[in-house]
Amino acid sequence: MKLNIALLAGDGIGPEIIHEAVKISNAIAQKFTHEINWISGLTGAAAIDAVGDPYPEDTHSICLEADAVLFGAIGLPRFDNDPLAKVRPEEGLLRMRKKLGLYANVRPTFTFPSLIDKSPLKKERIKGTDLVFIRELTGGIYFGEKGRRNNGNIAYDTCTYSRDEIIRLARKGFELAMTRSKRLCCVDKANVMESSRLWRETVQNLEIEYPEVEVSYELVDAVAMRLVQWPNKYDVLITENLFGDILTDEASVISGSMGLMPSASLGNENALYEPIHGSFPQATGKNIANPIATILSAAMMFEMSFNLTKEGKLIREVVNKSLKRGIVTEDLSDGEKSYTTSEVGDFLVKEILNK
Ligand code: IPM
Ligand code: MG
Repeated sequence: MKLNIALLAGDGIGPEIIHEAVKISNAIAQKFTHEINWISGLTGAAAIDAVGDPYPEDTHSICLEADAVLFGAIGLPRFDNDPLAKVRPEEGLLRMRKKLGLYANVRPTFTFPSLIDKSPLKKERIKGTDLVFIRELTGGIYFGEKGRRNNGNIAYDTCTYSRDEIIRLARKGFELAMTRSKRLCCVDKANVMESSRLWRETVQNLEIEYPEVEVSYELVDAVAMRLVQWPNKYDVLITENLFGDILTDEASVISGSMGLMPSASLGNENALYEPIHGSFPQATGKNIANPIATILSAAMMFEMSFNLTKEGKLIREVVNKSLKRGIVTEDLSDGEKSYTTSEVGDFLVKEILNK
């Protein structure tokens, strides 16, 4: 198969982790005789520095033409610490999501048996955790009307959702639930917010089309609590943009390190795969970042964009092997011997080619 993949490395550790994901994907291509055509584009601070725009038109064209996009991370502290910065790397990410129509952000959280002791939560609480958030990604407060008034002394952001935006996101949740344990949790704040009431009403109306799916409606504050109490009780959760942003960071550490969890952002025409962690600027260039989240994002890409399930499965297998053998970066090593980003990648490549 011929795969055209747009490669957006971004900022901070982005280039290093993307480099490893490319190595692993190329090994997979060699093993299963596929041909990958990588096309690189600029995003984030790197693009601001080069052309003054965090998501340049050229990059957008590259993404539109590709079959899938593999993305590293964006953001640098020099922008976070400057409230007057005219343009921020994150704007590039938001514009990219919007322009590519990536409305459904699929963020799984699962545990690795070999890492169960690394979790900040007790073993017996997290055992068997395997849940998936589907976060709405192109609407809500991120994209609603915002601004300042009264000479800048009052600021506002508004959360707006249309029924259609909720329906298309909720359908992804129902469909995924049908392939899993047929349980769906709709996370909202319907006791306070009007937009949440529209979410709840819309999801309730869809239930009739998926009679086998058992739907629960839970308030976001309660879900934040239950996620650390009983994460293994959840299966598929759907939620709006901001709640999803917060809850998926919370959920991501259950596995033991934020550097482990992948994600997919899906639209009707385009798909983008990225680790759920950020650009970890302090680690830039040190060859210490954990590449696994990006490598597992590549596995999701093989499976979801190209239906190459054996390829995805092999990546997961070798990743599990590396974790079991302790071939891990320092975030997972607890003072024991740790390996560099590229050593972890080298091990995985060798395992893939030897299988
Ligand atoms: C994420 C990130 C982004 C978000 C930031 C970098 C804009 O936190 O992908 O979760 O808030 O969506
Ligand atoms: Mg986030």
